[in-house]
Amino acid sequence: MAIEPFDVVDLIRTKRDKGVLSTAQVDWMVDAYTRGYIADEQMSAMTMAIFLNGMSRDEIRDLTLAMVASGTRLDFSGLSKKTTDKHSTGGVGDKITLPLAPLVASFGVAVPQLSGRGLGHTGGTLDKLESIPGWRANVTVDDMMAQLDAVGAVVCAAGSGLAPADGKLYALRDITGTVECIPLIASSIMSKKIAEGTAALVLDVKFGSGAFLKDITQSRELAQVMVQLGHDAGVATRAVLTNMNVPLGLAIGNANEVRESVEVLAGGGPADVVELTVVLARHMLELAGVTDADVEGALQNGQAMDAWRGMIRAQGGDPDAALPVARETHVVTADRDGVLVSQEALPFGIAAWRLGAGRARKEDPVEHAAGIDLHVKPGDTVTAGQPLFTMLTNDEARFARALESLEGAYAIGDAGDEVHTGGPLIAEVIDA
Ligand code: URA
Repeated sequence: MAIEPFDVVDLIRTKRDKGVLSTAQVDWMVDAYTRGYIADEQMSAMTMAIFLNGMSRDEIRDLTLAMVASGTRLDFSGLSKKTTDKHSTGGVGDKITLPLAPLVASFGVAVPQLSGRGLGHTGGTLDKLESIPGWRANVTVDDMMAQLDAVGAVVCAAGSGLAPADGKLYALRDITGTVECIPLIASSIMSKKIAEGTAALVLDVKFGSGAFLKDITQSRELAQVMVQLGHDAGVATRAVLTNMNVPLGLAIGNANEVRESVEVLAGGGPADVVELTVVLARHMLELAGVTDADVEGALQNGQAMDAWRGMIRAQGGDPDAALPVARETHVVTADRDGVLVSQEALPFGIAAWRLGAGRARKEDPVEHAAGIDLHVKPGDTVTAGQPLFTMLTNDEARFARALESLEGAYAIGDAGDEVHTGGPLIAEVIDA
């Protein structure tokens, strides 16, 4: 048996006592954990020590690169197009990838979007797209390359070969209370994006009640660390800090989010979804060297819609097929005249999840028709009896628990009262 160069207990003690691990130690730790030499309980102690004591920028870079090296790395250098991608840290009603990927691809760049599934109150892009009859999330690398050449955009499941160390570590963090930790989140996200092989990357880092990190200061720090990791790995990376105190758009769920995305691609849709789609598209295109794109025009003239239809068809989906519709609906109405002064993202996300739109465990299925359709946004005037939102599910028994999570989640005030949105949608852009 080969002799191991380090003792994991020494490494745990180093982090426990606020010390710094060397590159060789981090490389060995990630490799030894991936091959099963380091046990889960030892890695749990290590992640908790990191959670409590942090990591230096050098350690975070070493951890990220070691996780990249734990698996395969895609290479798009043979494509005739430049690659650019986006990653969101996740939020309620965040369907932006759906209109964004075809919109950006319609300008002749390639968008390789390797996505995940939803866990907890934030939805997963693949779950949303699987509402479309026939659409497949699994694509081989060869088919992916062909689709990027022909259509320009592919949104598909990240294979288990990309950064497998992260897959193992993320599952461990999920059950040991060590998810919300900047060094661990940054290395987790960036290891997958660097392994994916995109040349440019725009990070949509959320803050607010519906985000992973509630506080903008923490989100800013996460964004800075990830931008630095991207630059160090040769990926042109930029982050946009965006507000997730209020759900994005009017649809929270799966099929209803696809419907709303198609509205945006048809030149309509809610103003906040359009704004974020357009802003992120401009950043993605700029990083890929396209600076003169008429992004709004492409949503109005059918150019982005054509790319969407091509992207859906290439993965077996029928863009014209009817989307699933919920068997049961429950409408909540305004109890007085006034103005909607709050609509909290987190409880609405939890309610949609309880209606069946999300999953509690990785292996659970989602109900594609379940979710919430909002009819008003904060600042809108309402009259008594007017529908505020409709809950959608296939199982009537789910309404009570969903309603419980919505207690205090929205409020009607008087004209002139403060409207609680937590500020503008787009707060900051971080380049370096
Ligand atoms: N998303 C990831 O991929 N990793 C994290 O740690 C958090 C969010």
